[in-house]
Amino acid sequence: MPVIIAIGAQWGDEGKGKIVDMLAERADMVVRFSGGDNAGHTVVNSFGEFGLHLVPSGIFSSRALAVIGNGVVVNPAVLLQELAKLNERGVDTSRLAISDRAHVIMPYHIMLDKFQEQARAGKAIGTTGKGIGPAFADKATRHGVRMVDIIDSERLRERLTTVLEYNNTIMTRVYGASPLSLEEVHSEYCRYGEQLAPYIRDTSLLLDEAIARGQVVLLEGAQGALLDPDFGTYPFTTSSSPLSGGGCLGAGVPPTRINQVLGVFKAYCTRVGGGPMPTELKNEMGQAIRELGHEYGTTTGRPRRCGWFDGVAARFSTRINGFTSAAITRLDVLDTLPSLKICIAYRLDGQIIEHFPASATDLERCEPVYEEFPGWQTPISDIRRYDRLPVAARRYMARLEEIINCPVSLVSVGTRREETIYKMPDLMTQPVTQR
Ligand code: IMP
Repeated sequence: MPVIIAIGAQWGDEGKGKIVDMLAERADMVVRFSGGDNAGHTVVNSFGEFGLHLVPSGIFSSRALAVIGNGVVVNPAVLLQELAKLNERGVDTSRLAISDRAHVIMPYHIMLDKFQEQARAGKAIGTTGKGIGPAFADKATRHGVRMVDIIDSERLRERLTTVLEYNNTIMTRVYGASPLSLEEVHSEYCRYGEQLAPYIRDTSLLLDEAIARGQVVLLEGAQGALLDPDFGTYPFTTSSSPLSGGGCLGAGVPPTRINQVLGVFKAYCTRVGGGPMPTELKNEMGQAIRELGHEYGTTTGRPRRCGWFDGVAARFSTRINGFTSAAITRLDVLDTLPSLKICIAYRLDGQIIEHFPASATDLERCEPVYEEFPGWQTPISDIRRYDRLPVAARRYMARLEEIINCPVSLVSVGTRREETIYKMPDLMTQPVTQR
């Protein structure tokens, strides 16, 4: 039975929430494996509309276990609020498990995130301000606090004695801030530990058991491939790997167990925060796409930068993630546009290049080389069969498929679950009734 990974294939906000919510219907386990509450997934289903940040979309499924994997950094206060809101709206959250190895976002991480951004001045990354970078930095420098620590008051005190002193030193000496009190932080996080204890488990073991039973496991990516610290537009990236390889590490599943890797691409491009985006449209067309697609961040409410589909970045994303198929989302957002463009190469210093450069400053200087396509100028949200799409939409899609170099399995033409076209029969993506 399959283990499938769903990955944001661009700069995040590709509409993974809807796709994962649909796939979760058929999964026995849904696992978040990277990032933290910097992520924002909008899910629209029979319970209503939700903006999830930490809880995996699988929470809405009537049977799946929703898992926050070891690769996630967890802000316990945010998680508890999210659970309370879900409960208020009738969603059962008892099937949640949090990895005992997941790192915890501490108050000083959020403070340091803001100080670091201020210090970057004109070169700010435009982080979400949720403490993600400092929490992953502490993980790497072995100054982290993990979920397993907050459920044991003595262990937490011992851990904090070292790590709070280290972080207080940085905050006071580098940034001139006041130190945090060990007693206050300890008692606050002991409280969180008590509330979250029933959920904290060895989730990698749970996954192993599920796979051994032949159950369907879905690994739910956060952010997007081009925000990966190794392969994204460094330093304008996030701090944990949103790639398929990151899924193995962040959930504790060996690569040999993965059956499918689904890349979720938006039919155009968006990005929030700083960093290069070669196809960005800083004109009326960009503004029009933003309004048509309601392109404002789920987490921060910031307007997203909008542009044409970047085929160079997309093909790179397929290569580093090994997508076995792609979901194209938000095709309907383009319904009214008279013509569309796809970037098929970059021009850098007079040379045409087809690879994605390592340096953000090189990428900043890349000019997109476009192919132009006529728009279809008709609503497509009611269409359920691929061959019923207008000819112009199929031409656009065919070229996307060719450029990204992987077969398209589904096309999303609206926010609701049913507004989906299944192009390829597939165990996970095909609705039960259509199989
Ligand atoms: P951080 O992850 O908060 O440190 O932010 C680093 C960069 O990643 C910034 O450009 C953010 O806007 C971007 N980012 C982080 N999470 C998301 C997301 O879920 N969607 C889109 N961009 C994100």
